[in-house]
Amino acid sequence: MRRLVLAAALSAGLISSAHAVEGMWQPAQLPSIAATLKQHGLKLDPNTLTDLTAYPMGAIVSLGGCTASFVSPQGLVVTNHHCAYGALQYNSTPQKNLIVDGFLAKTHAEELPGDPNMRVFVTEEIRDVTKDITGKLTDTMSGAERHKAIEQATKAQVKACEIEGYRCDVYTFHGGYSYQLIRQLEIKDVRVVYAPPESIGKFGGDVDNWMWPRHTGDFSYLRAYVSKDGKSAPYAKDNVPYQPKHVLKLNPQGLEEGDYVMVTGYPGRTNRYRLADEVQSAIDWTYPTQIKVYEDTLDIINTAGKADPKAAVKYASMVASLNNYLKNFGGQLEGLRRADAVAVKRTQEAQLETWLKQQGGADNQALVADIGKLRQAIEEEKTTRERTLDIGLVTRSAMLGNALRLVRLSKERAKPDMERDASYQQRNEVRIEGALTQMERRYDPTVDQQLLVYGLKRYLALPKAQRLPALDAWLGDAANDAQIAQKVAALYAGSQFGNVDERLKWFKADSKAIEASNDSLLKLAVALQPQLQKVEDEQDARAGAMSKLRPRYMQAMIAWKDAQHLPVYPDANSSLRVTFGNVQGVAPRDGVNYAPFTTAQGIVEKATGKEPFNAPQAELAAIKAKAFDGYASKKLGTLPVDFLADLDITGGNSGSPALDAEGRLVGLAFDGNWESVSGDWLFNPALNRSIQVDVRYMLWVMHHLDHADNLLREMGVPAASSK
Ligand code: ARG
Repeated sequence: MRRLVLAAALSAGLISSAHAVEGMWQPAQLPSIAATLKQHGLKLDPNTLTDLTAYPMGAIVSLGGCTASFVSPQGLVVTNHHCAYGALQYNSTPQKNLIVDGFLAKTHAEELPGDPNMRVFVTEEIRDVTKDITGKLTDTMSGAERHKAIEQATKAQVKACEIEGYRCDVYTFHGGYSYQLIRQLEIKDVRVVYAPPESIGKFGGDVDNWMWPRHTGDFSYLRAYVSKDGKSAPYAKDNVPYQPKHVLKLNPQGLEEGDYVMVTGYPGRTNRYRLADEVQSAIDWTYPTQIKVYEDTLDIINTAGKADPKAAVKYASMVASLNNYLKNFGGQLEGLRRADAVAVKRTQEAQLETWLKQQGGADNQALVADIGKLRQAIEEEKTTRERTLDIGLVTRSAMLGNALRLVRLSKERAKPDMERDASYQQRNEVRIEGALTQMERRYDPTVDQQLLVYGLKRYLALPKAQRLPALDAWLGDAANDAQIAQKVAALYAGSQFGNVDERLKWFKADSKAIEASNDSLLKLAVALQPQLQKVEDEQDARAGAMSKLRPRYMQAMIAWKDAQHLPVYPDANSSLRVTFGNVQGVAPRDGVNYAPFTTAQGIVEKATGKEPFNAPQAELAAIKAKAFDGYASKKLGTLPVDFLADLDITGGNSGSPALDAEGRLVGLAFDGNWESVSGDWLFNPALNRSIQVDVRYMLWVMHHLDHADNLLREMGVPAASSK
């Protein structure tokens, strides 16, 4: 295909000032943009990047929400500090706080198990199954029927694919325009090996988050374990390190300005093909509402945490995540307004429709009509969005949420496996068990109760017709904070759910036993479950209707772009993607020009001694003495810390390896600049930058400050010349 529009515009000498190539490409798409990849400096044959079981793709793994990569034949995995944050929190107490202090296992025996639901996924195969999923769909199906048919076909594909130790899942692309079956090795024993202290790993904290210039050492190491016979197995003391087929080579020299760089990883969600009405609703309702809810939630947790250090540790991971999103939502609002995103999308839609009409033909007219229907469906979704949010807030209570999960599981278990709701099939029971087991370490009764009270208060403001009779009946005439709090306190007092053995006992129980239970939480959950099921069924029917309309829009979009010779990459959907570009700075505002690298000097400039700018004394002293042990950049004349590149990443890419032109590790992506936040909706090549921690800073911190030379040796990094 003719994909040279962009490539032709780039002359080799101009690459460092060239604009980004927007796109989170599927590995299989790369050969079709081979010329552009070459223009930007890729030395590898793009075809090698399509083989998931070859170097380097075979070394890239998903942590389910973050990305990572194998860096030693003994299953050593490198990712971001903020991706191991939960595992550090899981192993922390106020007395021994691994987030604050950092952690280094000098031997395998010292490594710490993560929570039972922690995973390393290695993608081995991606196969198109669109025909298998959509083959039996008909135009006359209702939304509910359509949803069911897609779910059944999906379950059949998964069942045919999955074998012991592997996970198969069907991923939806372009809202249902195509479906792909992805097979991943699932490693279930993941341990913490090394993390620098928070004063390095999260230096700058939430003040610097989503910002440049940045000086964060956002990296850490985990290790994947399997059973003695090399199979995927849950944590067991005598499991052995997994031996990956491919391990990333390191380039300890790192990159300089203008160099080619690519990031391979698992971006979670983007909204690049949403309609103008959806952008408008995100601006008017979604982000402002979420901001309020997240602020209130943080208030509750932080107040409790001040009074009780134990609670602070238990919610440390949740607080970090809430703060990260909170700032992100603010950035979305600011960015969408600045870019006039609604108007841009409206213009685009109008152009698309004009083009369709110009093409003529009944098919194109039908597409125009379906886009109209999509707009209607989007409008209808608004009527229940507050209810969806409030139910989510009520059921996010660890206690009530888990009780509801158990009630549902007991009902689903009564059905044949293929008839069960997908999340409750046998293959997922271990996840539910894991959630029940690990609850303690992220739960405090006072906080959990207050969060539930908060959710209930919001829920009570819903119109009567949208409320759940069973919940109303239980609430009785409780209306204000104190009355609701009293109800909730009684609910918790009458339950044994705070006890893990009790929860696991109910995990094994059948629905009869659960329905006969006297536990106050189970009783409420039993009463609520059928009504929540009704809500879920309604949502499924909506999703079914959408799964017909959204692909029609995408069909039109793809045809339109194709007519302009523009390749179309799908919105992020947690599947493996590649983004490529060059190391380069950015000019975000008039008169402001940011350099592509930050250096060790900046750490000294920012250091205040107070969190989050409390760089360790040893680090400050080493920087002042220029004790960079040979890791400094010759070009910069000092130690690089973080760098910018014009790469297209989003949440989920965290921990992704940044690779040089030959596919060697030169850093880890961990964030984007402020202007890139709203890039989830509308990518602006002039302003969008990804932020990576530089491999030279990682190696220097490991060697000079944390004495993790055992890991450097393991990765085969040549001993640094201690200057
Ligand atoms: N913004 C980063 C991301 O979403 C997370 C950074 C974590 N650090 C922090 N200060 N909250 O991938």
